[in-house]
Amino acid sequence: MILKKSEIPTSEITPKQAYMNRRAFMAAAAATGVAAIAGERVSRMVRPAGVEAAEKLTVVNSPLSTTGVEVTPYEDITHYNNFYEFGVDKGDPAKNAGTLRTRPWSVKVEGLVKEPKTFDIDTLLKLKPMEERVYRFRCVEAWSMVIPWAGYSLSEFINACEPLPSAKYVQFLSLADSKQEPEIYNAHLNWPYSEGLRMDEAMHPLTLLTFGLYGEVLPNQDGAPVRVIVPWKYGFKSAKSIVKVKFVKSQPSTTWNDMAPQEYGFYSNVNPNVDHPRWSQKTERRIGFPIWKQRQPTLMFNGYGDQVAQLYAGMDLKKNY
Ligand code: MTE
Repeated sequence: MILKKSEIPTSEITPKQAYMNRRAFMAAAAATGVAAIAGERVSRMVRPAGVEAAEKLTVVNSPLSTTGVEVTPYEDITHYNNFYEFGVDKGDPAKNAGTLRTRPWSVKVEGLVKEPKTFDIDTLLKLKPMEERVYRFRCVEAWSMVIPWAGYSLSEFINACEPLPSAKYVQFLSLADSKQEPEIYNAHLNWPYSEGLRMDEAMHPLTLLTFGLYGEVLPNQDGAPVRVIVPWKYGFKSAKSIVKVKFVKSQPSTTWNDMAPQEYGFYSNVNPNVDHPRWSQKTERRIGFPIWKQRQPTLMFNGYGDQVAQLYAGMDLKKNY
């Protein structure tokens, strides 16, 4: 994003031994599809020294999980972050997000709903069975990861919110509290962080209300205790540490679109044919892969076109970037 100072990953190269072990495992598990992913996941769950295990979640397998892709190591997912409330460098959120208090936590629901509601986070955690969904994650900055998220379809939560038929968009607002997020005003953005989706995008089964990754609750730097993941859109569409959800009639204002509308559109569907004004979107750098495997072609809708392209039928995606 335009405020970034540096883009140096904490770990670009998987240690050779780990890589060799992984290859041996993959060869052994080659015939078993999902099992290979699960094994891959476990084999790459290397926790950095001094980082304690987080609370485990009970997750069930999901038919909506992406298969046949190599997942990103836990360390990279949790140490290469964008979370400007905790600093603008990729390593800042892991260093600074310890001050975020995730209990008590509630999510307020407002706007065009039958009646306003407040959901306690522990109620939300139990609302539906937690699924593990491996998704490709593509940042607008042209880096990417593959992440085993835990959550359930956002549509399940939206149904519990009872929106009115007049609700055409949904807006997500993140916590903005300088006591818990002392770096927040060092980034010159309009706070709170705001994102939004058209109602049909929000109701799409792939859109995930996300509580965890690698079978554990989200680390603070990844948006604890609850965030949204929209796998066919650039990562900035996925607001972290959500405290408010608003159902509205017209397209809501969103943080990066407000900041630089010519660079960050409202839709922000991953699209290799529409470059960012300052860089190409044709390829991406897969964080945490060995250097010779990092450069990958970017896929239309991040590879989820079969499921989501019909949402944009008839729209000019060069205009609606
Ligand atoms: N949500 C909030 N509240 N604040 C942020 O700075 N950054 C966004 C998005 N959600 C951001 C946010 C961007 S630019 C990206 S790429 C993703 O979070 C990064 O998520 P990750 O750090 O878990 O990879």
